[in-house]
Amino acid sequence: MASDTPKGQQMWGGRFAAQPSDIMQSINASIDVDRRMVREDIAGSRAHADMLAEQGIISAEDNEAIQAGLDQVVAEVQNDTFPYRVELEDIHMNVEARLKEIVGEAAGRLHTARSRNDQVVTDFRLWARGALTEARRGLKDLQRALVTVAGSHADAVMPGFTHLQTAQPVTLGHHMLAYVEMFERDCSRLDDCARRLNESPLGAAALAGTGFPIDREMTAEALGFDRPMANSLDAVSARDFALEALAAMSISATHLSRLAEEIVLWTSAQFAFAKLSDAWSTGSSIMPQKRNPDAAELIRAKASLITGQFMSLQGAVKALPLAYAKDLQDDKVLTFGAFDTFGLCTAAMAGMMETITFNRENMRAAAAKGFSTATDLADWLVRELKMPFRDAHHVTGSLVAKAEQKGCDLPELSLEEMQSIEPRLTNDVFSVLTVEASAMSRQSYGGTSPLRVAEQVEQWQQRLG
Ligand code: ARG
Repeated sequence: MASDTPKGQQMWGGRFAAQPSDIMQSINASIDVDRRMVREDIAGSRAHADMLAEQGIISAEDNEAIQAGLDQVVAEVQNDTFPYRVELEDIHMNVEARLKEIVGEAAGRLHTARSRNDQVVTDFRLWARGALTEARRGLKDLQRALVTVAGSHADAVMPGFTHLQTAQPVTLGHHMLAYVEMFERDCSRLDDCARRLNESPLGAAALAGTGFPIDREMTAEALGFDRPMANSLDAVSARDFALEALAAMSISATHLSRLAEEIVLWTSAQFAFAKLSDAWSTGSSIMPQKRNPDAAELIRAKASLITGQFMSLQGAVKALPLAYAKDLQDDKVLTFGAFDTFGLCTAAMAGMMETITFNRENMRAAAAKGFSTATDLADWLVRELKMPFRDAHHVTGSLVAKAEQKGCDLPELSLEEMQSIEPRLTNDVFSVLTVEASAMSRQSYGGTSPLRVAEQVEQWQQRLG
């Protein structure tokens, strides 16, 4: 067996006489996935080696050799010449093996007082920390796009729905800001997750800690963690940080999906509230008139993929006895995939919202249909005639029925027709029956009035910068 045949030289191969089968190698190797953590792996090794030298566990010369070798590894990664080898299973053994080729024996001392179990999860936490920052940035960009739409359309009246039935007039600005609020909570969930995950597992070693006099505070600090994790079994076993990130993204993707669904509805010929720009529409190969909202539809579908990734990881973790088990290797493909998908979805949604245009006339006309100001009429009866709301609701119901019979909207009934149901009604009632008056009147805190919306837009602009 040639000494440079890595397959015959598994790092853990001391006690093995035979090589793994090819299929064993295929199921076991994770390098195609975990190579994305190469930078984090090198950072972890640098911090570990510095600490080992500081503590006198390895010599200063060995540390220098290790650091210089890792410099070369970084350069190879940067200029795409680093040899990722599937026989070496994962990124940790790939980096270490390459280091050995570069610096020789000193490389063999790097793994003192460390195991791949604490190494992998250190890398993974570092990676997730960066990915959470990116995910949050994507949401912020989207929020900015939505606030801009809200600012331009603070006073654009559209139908507000419950049960997808016309309910009351609302403003488009108000509708957009509802999503801004949701995405803000999503950001805060990602922040929480980033804060909680920022503890260092490094030094937990395989599961029980180590007999070497390591300094876990030092490596934690070097890697930007707040502190070392307090329990070595927990450190190598815990994946709740990844679950939490996936759960937070799954919730956020659910919000993205609801907005996507509204885009699909609003851009249909039946609604005709909005039009996506050419850059965010696709055509049909057979129907020349089509402008399809494919990106919105895909966001709707991809939200489920992210939820699926969350559920898959939860399934992988939920029955694992402490501490490490290889099941945990598949945490990364799920997590990386979810972050990739989430980033794509927020970027696509921001792109659509930056260039979407709204048809204010159509929205206004739709808002006036379906007796959307019936509540305003009932409120008038309560305010002007001191009628109990329940009675006012009943009278308004009769007026709606009358309009329905006549095939017209509420404001098109004559005063006489109205008075045949409630004689005390006066011409003044017509002033509350327009959709503008209705929206304008809803000035309660958090309400849809253009006044309130403009205030909120201003606050969001300041907050989002
Ligand atoms: N590639 C492995 C993973 O991602 C590294 C940890 C391996 N540890 C072990 N005891 N086999 O989980």
